[in-house]
Amino acid sequence: MRALTVIGNWKMNGSVRSNRDWMHLVIEDMQQGMPAGRRFGVCVPFPYLQDCSAHLAGSQLLLGAQDVSAYASGAYTGEVSASMLEEMGVRFVIVGHSERRMQYGEANESIALKAEQALDHELIPIICVGETADERNSGRAVEVVRRQVASQVSTLQDRLVDCLIAYEPIWAIGTGKVASAQMAQDMHQAIRLQLAEFDDDVASHIGIIYGGSVRADNATELFAMPDIDGALVGGASLDAKEFLAICRS
Ligand code: PGA
Repeated sequence: MRALTVIGNWKMNGSVRSNRDWMHLVIEDMQQGMPAGRRFGVCVPFPYLQDCSAHLAGSQLLLGAQDVSAYASGAYTGEVSASMLEEMGVRFVIVGHSERRMQYGEANESIALKAEQALDHELIPIICVGETADERNSGRAVEVVRRQVASQVSTLQDRLVDCLIAYEPIWAIGTGKVASAQMAQDMHQAIRLQLAEFDDDVASHIGIIYGGSVRADNATELFAMPDIDGALVGGASLDAKEFLAICRS
C-alpha cells in the first residue's frame, strides 16, 4: 500500500509572520485528526527553513525545501547542500521543478545528481516531470515524460524507490487548468509501466503524485485514481484552509 502524500510548495512566497500564522492554523487543525495512512509536508523558501523547522517540530506536517545542490560542498556560491537541509530537519526536497528547468536551464542529468545528494542525506527527493502544452497538443506528452523518467532511472537505478515522482504538466501549473483526473491517471500509469520495464518492485512501491492547479474541489477525484498517490500543491497551498481541505480530500 502506497501512502497518500500531500505536499505544499510555497514557491517564492511568504514572510516570517505570515508563515507562522499559516503553520499555527494548519498544525492546530491537524491535531483534530487527519485521515490515517497519509503524509503531509510543506516546501518553504530556504531562509525560512529554520524558523519553520522549529514551529513544525512534533507536528504532523513535515518540512520540505524547493531545491538542493547537485554537489556535496565547496565553491558553489548561492547553493544549498543536502547536508545543510538535513541539519534543518528537512524531509522532502523538490528537484527539477519545471520553473527551474525552464527559467534556470536545469537538465535531467543535474536533477538526477540533486536527487542522489538528497538520498545520501535521508531526504526524499520529489522529482518533477511534465510536458508543455505544445508537446501535449502535438501528441508527444508520453514520449517527453518517458525521456525525463528514463534519465532518472539511468542514474538512480533502484534508489528511485525512495523518491517521489511528481507529474506536473507545465500547462496546468498556476493556470487553473487542471488535467482531468483520467488524463493524469493515464500519465501516472504510463510512468509506472515504464518503471516496471526496469524493476517491478520500484514500479509498485514508488509514490507518483500529481501537480498542477490542484484545489480542494478537484483533489478528491484525483486521489481516487489508482496510480495517483497524492499531490504537489502550489498556489492553493498558500491558503491554510484550502491546503487543509486538500489534505483531507
Ligand atoms: P500550482 O503549482 O498548484 O500553483 O499549479 C503546482 C506546482 O508548481 O508544484
